[in-house]
Amino acid sequence: MGRLTRDFCNGCPLRGPAKHFVSGVGPKERPDLPIMFVGEAPGEDEDESGIPFVGAAGTRVFDPLLKEVGLVRRKVWIYNVLGCRPPSNKIDHPDAKHALGICPTNTLYPAIAEHQPDVIVAMGATAVRALLGVKSVKLGDVRGKPVEVIVAGHRCVVVPTYHPASLLPHRRPQDRGYVVGDFRRAVSIAEGGDFNVSKHYSVLTTLEDVEEFFLGLANVRKLISFDIESQNHSEDVVDVQRDKILGLSFSWKAGHAVYLPIRHRPPFHYDLQDFWGKDQEYVVSLVRGILEDPQIPKGGQNKKYDAQVLQCDLGIRLCGYVFDTMYASHN
Ligand code: URA
Repeated sequence: MGRLTRDFCNGCPLRGPAKHFVSGVGPKERPDLPIMFVGEAPGEDEDESGIPFVGAAGTRVFDPLLKEVGLVRRKVWIYNVLGCRPPSNKIDHPDAKHALGICPTNTLYPAIAEHQPDVIVAMGATAVRALLGVKSVKLGDVRGKPVEVIVAGHRCVVVPTYHPASLLPHRRPQDRGYVVGDFRRAVSIAEGGDFNVSKHYSVLTTLEDVEEFFLGLANVRKLISFDIESQNHSEDVVDVQRDKILGLSFSWKAGHAVYLPIRHRPPFHYDLQDFWGKDQEYVVSLVRGILEDPQIPKGGQNKKYDAQVLQCDLGIRLCGYVFDTMYASHN
């Protein structure tokens, strides 16, 4: 928290109207239960005070929830994905979207690297997206399912849950029980309890990790599923000759997947830029080695589109494609 003196705030449209930059609060010393709670962005009261979760969602929902599971504010880290209040608190406002591409990389992720929490409770879809590194998410599908991730180079467990504001009396107070359960789960994971994490997702960001991953993948010899993340050349219109591949995801066994950025900086940057710089061609050649090998069986959803974009954009000719969930659903 503090005044807006950070370099990365230059050019951010949220900077001007904001009174305070509200990144996070928490103990300096590592607490017994190293848990971080991450919300979305400051509202009016937080903007005024510079402290996260001091408005209605904080005092009427979040604080009582902490108390109910035996936690106290001063012993947990509390952060937001955005440090400044979006116009009218709207996270889908263009200025907020712009800030999402700058702010977490400079505040939330470094804070995670510094504090090294064992567990992060991601409160609401914005926090879940930022922490799982996914572009879109249906909160109801992931809520309450802890996921082991590597975020900011730090391995920890993310517990997705609903945002405290969504439990206010005029919204969905009936969902409170789920969130209490999720907070309890976070405590039990931080206590070292059996949390049954079954999913391992990560984003490949170093060349060593990419090489090691593709070496391993070539030896799997079982069905590999993959998907491409693409950017339409024109808004909402598919054009296989001009759409661009932002990245690819691969899964080789249940609960295990990686995401390989190609032309953007995940999770929030969608402006086209080669992620791998001078090694771009080399990384694409490793992808080609898997996708063009007819001996490595592959599957996915609606691969006709993916195959065409792979060919037009990266010059990769998909081979060994044996299973498509979309075709299968028609049978
Ligand atoms: N909502 C958030 O996401 N963060 C705050 O700090 C307050 C409300």
